[in-house]
Amino acid sequence: MPSPTVDPNLAEALRELGCAGATELVLGGMPARDLAQRFGTPLYVFDAAVLARRVARVRAALGPRVELLWSVKANPSLAVTRCLRLAGTGAEVASLGELHLALAAGHAAAALRFAGPGKTDAEIDAAVGLGLGCFHAESRSEVAAIAAAAARHGTRVAVAVRVNLPQELAGARMRMGGRSSRFGVDAEQVPALLRAIGADARLQLAGLHVYAGTQCFDAAAFVQHAQQLVVHAERWERDLGLALCELDLGGGFGTALFEDDPVFDLDAAGRGVRELVAAHDRADRRWFVELGRYLAAPAGVYLTRVVRTKTSGAQRHAALDGGMHQAAAAAGVGTVLRRAPLVVHATRLGEPAGDSVALGGPLCTPADQFGSAVPLPPLAEGDLVALLGAGAYGLSYSPHTFLSHATPAEVLVGDGPPRLARQRGSARDVLRDQAP
Ligand SMILES: Cc1ncc(COP(=O)(O)O)c(C=O)c1O
Repeated sequence: MPSPTVDPNLAEALRELGCAGATELVLGGMPARDLAQRFGTPLYVFDAAVLARRVARVRAALGPRVELLWSVKANPSLAVTRCLRLAGTGAEVASLGELHLALAAGHAAAALRFAGPGKTDAEIDAAVGLGLGCFHAESRSEVAAIAAAAARHGTRVAVAVRVNLPQELAGARMRMGGRSSRFGVDAEQVPALLRAIGADARLQLAGLHVYAGTQCFDAAAFVQHAQQLVVHAERWERDLGLALCELDLGGGFGTALFEDDPVFDLDAAGRGVRELVAAHDRADRRWFVELGRYLAAPAGVYLTRVVRTKTSGAQRHAALDGGMHQAAAAAGVGTVLRRAPLVVHATRLGEPAGDSVALGGPLCTPADQFGSAVPLPPLAEGDLVALLGAGAYGLSYSPHTFLSHATPAEVLVGDGPPRLARQRGSARDVLRDQAP
């Protein structure tokens, strides 16, 4: 029998998990079916060895002068954040909650960066009190709030300005700059703000930050955008007589999570960044790149079991015990065109597909669907379906209170025996924190 053709992104996702050519999904040395048996479904599984390999690959590509930051928002898992720290990443956070998570994962407050356009005065105050390393400020008003917090705490606080450059980040699926934006400070407003920070004894001007979009599949566009930041930094240093030592070049490296996604050329991005750094480096300079999805997505698998199958019209349907309330990104939330995520029959890898199946979860909305015609080996009730590339923007990005299912458990594999990283919720959690 000819072996079925496998989509290249699916093949790469399996290779990354060490399952190329395997007949069943094995994660960190344990068959997915055993993990599902032991920890139940739906289940998130994160592989520490994959996380460490991703970090090593990115650090090698970017070179030794660039500090790699983990964007905690991509997966606020203590276990994942700790693994990534041990693999050599710093961290950037976007809320007080993420700041606490990063501290619990072993990061020093003084090494953390805090970005986000809507930091409240209370969050800023608490972050200063905890000894946060540097704010990535997104407005003049935020800078005033940071200065006020610094005065209350009797300390000097480092601030970098997030710049909204005049150019969009070409090649990014979701763009956050290059036009009127809540994110960052428009480039023409930056000099006055830098002057104000530089003149304020409560503040220490750290440098500049840019982050202009996510799922950028164009390495040359990323480098070109980073270069724009550097050009602006040098001009402002010259014009204003100020030092902008820290340059955070952003991130958003594209990660192939759907069957027709292109592949991000990490080597080309790394080469471009290394050349940029070499051309503009100096002793007091610190360079950063911040990544979420690219580091974590390939290390995660969402395991879910078929609850019911049936035929409706001419189409086979399978209702799973997991769905878009726990894996919204894989169900296409936030994308314009719905496409099939990287999905496999966990115990029958590489077997030929039967009739295509519409795969969805238990929610009472047609939006709860991973694909309307997914080619998989025939699915029976009780079978295990695995969504690959699920290590970023999973549960935390999902409307997981919709329909009040228990939240899934999370398991860490790949550094010792599998261990529970987050307990499964309970059906009674719906009552928690509600007035009786
Ligand atoms: C400021 C900032 N940094 C980093 C990230 C992480 O992006 P990604 O997961 O695409 O690497 C985001 C995502 O929205 C962000 O807003």
